[in-house]
Amino acid sequence: MDDILRTPGAVRDAERWTAHNYHPLPVVISSAEGAWLTDVDGRRYLDCLAGYSALNFGHRHPQLIAAAHAQLDRLTLTSRAFIHDQFADFCRELAELCGKDLVLPMNTGAEAVETGIKVARKWGYQVKGVAAGQANIVVAEGNFHGRTTTIVSFSTDEDARADFGPYTPGFTVVPYGDLDALTAAIDENTVAVLLEPIQGEQGVVVPPEGYLPGVRQVCTERNVLFIADEIQSGLGRTGATFACDHEGVVPDMYLLGKALGGGIVPVSAVAANADVLGVLKPGQHGSTFGGNPLACAVAIEVVRLLATGEFQRRSAELGERLRAGLEGLVGKGLVGVRVRGLWAGLDIDPALMSGREACERLAARGVLAKDTHGSTIRLAPPLVITEEEIDLAVAQLAEVLAG
Ligand SMILES: Cc1ncc(COP(=O)(O)O)c(C=O)c1O
Repeated sequence: MDDILRTPGAVRDAERWTAHNYHPLPVVISSAEGAWLTDVDGRRYLDCLAGYSALNFGHRHPQLIAAAHAQLDRLTLTSRAFIHDQFADFCRELAELCGKDLVLPMNTGAEAVETGIKVARKWGYQVKGVAAGQANIVVAEGNFHGRTTTIVSFSTDEDARADFGPYTPGFTVVPYGDLDALTAAIDENTVAVLLEPIQGEQGVVVPPEGYLPGVRQVCTERNVLFIADEIQSGLGRTGATFACDHEGVVPDMYLLGKALGGGIVPVSAVAANADVLGVLKPGQHGSTFGGNPLACAVAIEVVRLLATGEFQRRSAELGERLRAGLEGLVGKGLVGVRVRGLWAGLDIDPALMSGREACERLAARGVLAKDTHGSTIRLAPPLVITEEEIDLAVAQLAEVLAG
């Protein structure tokens, strides 16, 4: 059988020629459309991960692909040494979507986080008046903000952090969801609180109601910037443009990425008001590829898709169907479920199987999802998924849990 299937050889080659910094499911994808993927052997899978939310609009959304094609035929890169004709529109339309004055485009999520940290520190020294070299940023246990040496310095995940020191100082870690602990950690040198409004990598962990408004209030009172990392939670995933919207919270800085690139190119950005982003002057920060013409052309269309509100509504409505389906499995193999829009963290009874095993069995049934810590799996289907496809995913999960 192996001789006629292309998958085993392709898996072996990938393992042979790459560093093993990931442990992918043994599925080799060759094409995709909407919510569906096809592998090198012609098998079809329902995508219930959507590139960790980078594919919120599905694979190869026609409007996004058309924008990319048109831009490829015209202009792809200028560097920021010059201005190109897609740049201002992208920055303006994204700033308007965020309700902020300014946008600073980068590429990966980690770069947006690094940008947020640098801006907050400079703001702290130049605006707040923190003594040189003393700025600190309060972050949460269980965070995931990316993989740079500074970012892993304040990770509480040993896999992400161990043996990558010496670590960058200037971060204080407090329990997620504990407003008293966060408030107590703020001192005169605190320049920012950096949080995911929902912790995705940790298993779609939603903080207690009132936590985010409480953080907003204490940040305002203590003259501290509230930085919301909406790289995974933002841009329609939770049934609103931003996860912060669910509690009516407006942070000082949005960190965006993943879906901003429409599943085509890496695009990230920081959005904030001029009193914050305005601290950066020429030569102090940047990226060769940040805000390039191809990225901007695609991301403009992403922002336009979101500006209609259609995807946020879809996510909210279909999310209720997903919630109902998944809650019906609690006690039948699931021990916990957290759902916000089309984003779900499922805790599988560890006595039954690991998250990895569940994902392997789901893949064998034509549904792709990914485990996160231990027995937790995360579902984040493209927002173009249909009701029937949600029912299919839930039904296949039920079969897997039933053994
Ligand atoms: C909340 C959050 N922040 C930052 C990142 C890092 O993004 P990237 O992998 O594009 O660097 C991620 C990636 O999973 C994320 O979920």
